[in-house]
Amino acid sequence: PVTPRVLSGIQPTADSFHLGNYLGALRQWVALQDSHEAFYCVVDLHAITVEHDPALLRRRTRVSAAQLLAMGLDQDRSTLFVQSHVPEHAELAWVLSCLTGFGEASRMTQFKDKSAKQGASAASVGLFTYPILQAADILLYSPEAGPGERVFQVPVGEDQRQHLELTRDLAQRFNHRFGETFVPPAAYIPETAAKITDLQEPAAKMSKSASSPQGILDVLEEPGPMRKKIMRAVTDTGTEVRYDEENKAGVTNLMRIYAALGETSYADIEARYAGSGYGQFKKDLAELVLDTFTPIRERTQKLLADEEQLDRLLAQGAERAGAVARRNMEIVRDRVGF
Ligand code: ADP
Ligand code: NA
Repeated sequence: PVTPRVLSGIQPTADSFHLGNYLGALRQWVALQDSHEAFYCVVDLHAITVEHDPALLRRRTRVSAAQLLAMGLDQDRSTLFVQSHVPEHAELAWVLSCLTGFGEASRMTQFKDKSAKQGASAASVGLFTYPILQAADILLYSPEAGPGERVFQVPVGEDQRQHLELTRDLAQRFNHRFGETFVPPAAYIPETAAKITDLQEPAAKMSKSASSPQGILDVLEEPGPMRKKIMRAVTDTGTEVRYDEENKAGVTNLMRIYAALGETSYADIEARYAGSGYGQFKKDLAELVLDTFTPIRERTQKLLADEEQLDRLLAQGAERAGAVARRNMEIVRDRVGF
């Protein structure tokens, strides 16, 4: 059987990942290492599509990589690297941008959403072409076509579907114009991925751009504030721990977190807390979250304290990813006529 190849990236745009990132994506990254030939990328090129501070970007890139290693990414089982360390990402993005219609790019709804916040004309061209860079990120790791060709999958959330469609279209367009080169990627949507909402606004997703930090559980949060945020999470005027997305959105979100971290079912949680109210449930949930995140926080701190070791690990990732990227880019250059 062939080992499927997988590629995924995350932006280094916060001082810590949050519980939504962990349950919605990063936990799956760790699991996929063993079933897949996995490439994981801290996408710092994407992080400069909005105004940024260089020192902050540099720090967050390292903090992000350290957290991923602390969560269990292992350079012996997968390849973790920083996007800017492999310059072929930008080079392929240029080639693909010349294959993308202006109208086609204009239809990307995420740009419309993101640019609406700052005014479309204030947004950078980089933010506009972001999905094309994302296509390059993916296609650079397209398995070299041929016999024994591997399935190529990319984990995506619902919000990334349109970008993945563009990537598939660009792969097919390139192949059509210049000859079979890329394997169009398929979406891999893990069943275990849970959508986590804001602790203070259960209608909104937990996000680093939340209106208040009280709504987000950061992976690197200290135990005191972590417990407080969970104890103060919005619930409802009832007392029943019951899964009901419509009428009990707050409690339901906490149950999702509990079920995902405690590897238990909603029915089990309901039975366990029948008649005991929200207090005990929240207390136990806080301990579950801390059981998961405390070791990650401690390992992250250790990794950040040894700069040379972290540099070595990231250089190792860049070397392995770079070898694949260079091989594919050489083919692209040749086909395009460079
Ligand atoms: P944010 O919304 O904080 O900016 P990103 O958009 O950078 O997070 O998302 C990074 C990854 O984490 C994506 O794979 C996304 O699907 C996942 N993710 C983000 N927030 C959540 C959430 N609240 N629940 C589940 N998954 C999430
Ligand atoms: Na692997």
